[in-house]
Amino acid sequence: MSSVIRETVHVSTTSADYDVIVGTALLAEVGARVREAAPADAAFIVSDTNVAPLYLEQVETSLCEAGFSVASLVVEAGEVHKNLTTFGTILETMAKADLTRDSIMVALCGGVVGDMAGFAAASYMRGIRVVQVPTTLLSMVDSSVGGKTAIDLSCGKNLVGAFLQPSLVVADVGCLQSLEPEVFVDGIGEVVKHGVLADESLFDELAYTPLLQTSDPDYLTHVVARNVAIKRDVVSGDERERGVRQTLNLGHTIGHAIEAASGYTLGHGHCVAVGLCAVARAAEQLGWAETGLAERVAACVTAQGLPSTSDLPTSELVAQATHDKKRHGTGVNLVVPTRIGQVEIRRVSFDELFEVIRLGMHRC
Ligand SMILES: NC(=O)c1ccc[n+]([C@@H]2O[C@H](COP(=O)([O-])OP(=O)(O)OC[C@H]3O[C@@H](n4cnc5c(N)ncnc54)[C@H](O)[C@@H]3O)[C@@H](O)[C@H]2O)c1
Ligand SMILES: [Zn+2]
Repeated sequence: MSSVIRETVHVSTTSADYDVIVGTALLAEVGARVREAAPADAAFIVSDTNVAPLYLEQVETSLCEAGFSVASLVVEAGEVHKNLTTFGTILETMAKADLTRDSIMVALCGGVVGDMAGFAAASYMRGIRVVQVPTTLLSMVDSSVGGKTAIDLSCGKNLVGAFLQPSLVVADVGCLQSLEPEVFVDGIGEVVKHGVLADESLFDELAYTPLLQTSDPDYLTHVVARNVAIKRDVVSGDERERGVRQTLNLGHTIGHAIEAASGYTLGHGHCVAVGLCAVARAAEQLGWAETGLAERVAACVTAQGLPSTSDLPTSELVAQATHDKKRHGTGVNLVVPTRIGQVEIRRVSFDELFEVIRLGMHRC
């Protein structure tokens, strides 16, 4: 019989206290754990068309056995459906299922539906509780923790949303086995980011251990729990992104520009990986970071099967990185790695940002 592995990370913010439980064989325990953390009569599960056939029945059964009356909704998978139409469908279905303020939302999915279901929970009857059951690596290490929820508008991503901390997060790393390799690897972008941001030993492990080839659930549990703890430490001190939470944007200034310049054909984590390498390269050349940093970051990213450079023209990246910011001031807050495990926030002018992108995207 295979052993059952569990790690619990406790998150404490000004608005909520909750556990993130990471491990194997957890889906069958969702009902009992929700009952303990967030007692309710009715549970409403939102999942997507890829995840539901694999895991919905198990979670439904678990919630029923724990005494919940259960309703569920399966929405179309994919970022293109993270919109007002799907959001409206979720809310209408919640109302038809007679959910009350005491009911609980259970988001069984990756970050797209997790963000949308979280926002529906934050909005329905001015707010009900949500439990996140993330099924992608990205949603386990990033989107399910921290309380940001959102949907996209045609003008841009995540333009409407709310802050709602979950009452519980249950991350069953067994779900990662069914992910497409490309989706799994995309999630590693944020994992490497966390290493560069705050944990040199995690970073060094990643440089030698390609996660995609790791089927050891014990190790995946350790990595996910460590990442959750890093995000927890940042978010707990700054729930609404007024200060230190900005450090989670490491690699994202250039990463977002690459994502937009590619017309969103490149995965977010792939773009963050290039963004990390680029900002490290520029920081080293500008004397803001220790020597050797850029090479270490690029080697780690490459070992994980992620890109370290991009062919997109610098001018296009500069245009994307500055286009909505020029209206709001004279520069941007750039998260700069100074050594592995340490970053600083620098206020840079648009000219300095141009130089950072130019140096960062130049192939060595
Ligand atoms: N709230 C936050 O703080 C935060 C942080 C980072 C990202 N996000 C958001 O997260 C979203 C991206 O999340 P994502 O990368 O998880 O994408 P996703 O939810 O689209 O999942 C990727 C794909 O994998 C499928 N899938 C999910 N779990 C599966 C499984 N176990 N087996 C097989 N297939 C599975 C999905 O159906 C989808 O097709 C973006 O919308 C982004 O804005 C939010
Ligand atoms: Zn990100």
